[in-house]
Amino acid sequence: MKPFTTASLVFLVAFSSASLNACSRVKPERSLYDRLGGNPVLAAVVDETIDNVSQNPKTSRSFDGVKLPVLKESIVSQLCSLTGGGCQYEGETMENAHADAKITNAEFELMVDAMRTALDHQHVGTREKNELLKILAPMKRDIVAH
Ligand code: HEM
Repeated sequence: MKPFTTASLVFLVAFSSASLNACSRVKPERSLYDRLGGNPVLAAVVDETIDNVSQNPKTSRSFDGVKLPVLKESIVSQLCSLTGGGCQYEGETMENAHADAKITNAEFELMVDAMRTALDHQHVGTREKNELLKILAPMKRDIVAH
């Protein structure tokens, strides 16, 4: 007696190729914007970060006379755009926006620290936090005066 009939072989091949297909169907990665928690989380992170640096005596000098709600909105829109949230950032380049303030390296690092703390307060995961900070890190050369 043959171990497999033709019908059972056809079934086996069809079944295994169907299950292989199902397993190899890879879901596209969600945007960083979505994984961060979208606009509510970005707005809360920017709110806390800017409140922190505009009140900390080591960083506050640049924020004198700056309309904080307008600045916060602009940064949220920039971060939304950079993380794949589909926003259109319409503000200045980082070089132009910070040229007059002559931002120091220490001030930049304090702002990044403030943002890291704010991301923790929003329970953003380590992977997402690092992805966002990695996007911001190269801006240092345009923001810090040299
Ligand atoms: C990764 C770090 C930073 C990012 C992503 C960032 C982003 C931005 C953005 C998007 C704007 C608005 C530009 C516009 O609307 O045209 C802005 C403006 C500004 N930033 Fe930053 N910034 C960073 C670091 C800093 C630091 C370290 C300071 C000071 C300690 C600072 C102080 C300011 C001030 C004072 C303005 C307002 C300038 C004005 O309205 O004349 N920023 N920043």
